[in-house]
Amino acid sequence: MKMKFAVGDQTYEIRPISQEDLEAILEVYRQCEDFLALGPVPTASMEMVLKDLEISKNEGGIFCGIFVQDGKMAGIIDYVPENYGGDPKRAYLALLMIGAPYRSQGLGQAVVKAFEDEIRKDARITTIMSGVQVNNPQAIKFWQRQGYRIVSGPILHPDQTTAFDLRKDLDGIVDL
Ligand SMILES: CC(C)(COP(=O)(O)OP(=O)(O)OC[C@H]1O[C@@H](n2cnc3c(N)ncnc32)[C@H](O)[C@@H]1OP(=O)(O)O)[C@@H](O)C(=O)NCCC(=O)NCCS
Repeated sequence: MKMKFAVGDQTYEIRPISQEDLEAILEVYRQCEDFLALGPVPTASMEMVLKDLEISKNEGGIFCGIFVQDGKMAGIIDYVPENYGGDPKRAYLALLMIGAPYRSQGLGQAVVKAFEDEIRKDARITTIMSGVQVNNPQAIKFWQRQGYRIVSGPILHPDQTTAFDLRKDLDGIVDL
């Protein structure tokens, strides 16, 4: 479940978070308030972090920190490795947030690749689903560059965000 990768000469590790990481997660959330501002609750809080951890747990998710070599947390990724929506072939990338100081250095792209390599270890998984808020054009561009296609119209979710469904097929055939 641990994923290691490098960007340039910096190495990173993705691993499931533990109780001691809560403050660091909150700090990443604070560094992502530009993103939170696109949704219903613009301000980061421990309550928000704990709620997201609870939702992840209930959906069979693995909530991970993205750690720099020095131990600092640069971001988080939350994913469901299998059986998403009752389909054994589907994984789900629920949330990816890179803290503002760590963005635009190729880290987001490297995290997505490390995550996909991990998912591909389970040969049953053919499809990764995700979602992106309709009012986040930079993220839409980012996901399309990683090979994710928009496969729905705008959907209003219970958390009051409006998002497109995203999909990437892992057999290497990408419909462009
Ligand atoms: C969207 C997000 C995950 C992208 O992560 P990131 O680490 O900034 O992404 P990358 O650096 O891999 O790619 C982003 C940009 O950096 C560029 N880039 C890639 N490698 C690079 C490198 N080695 N050096 C400099 N720039 C690089 C990319 O071309 C891309 O360019 P553009 O956005 O200017 O067109 C991140 O910005 C984020 O967490 N945002 C807030 C939360 C959010 O919106 N999450 C998505 C929710 S679905």
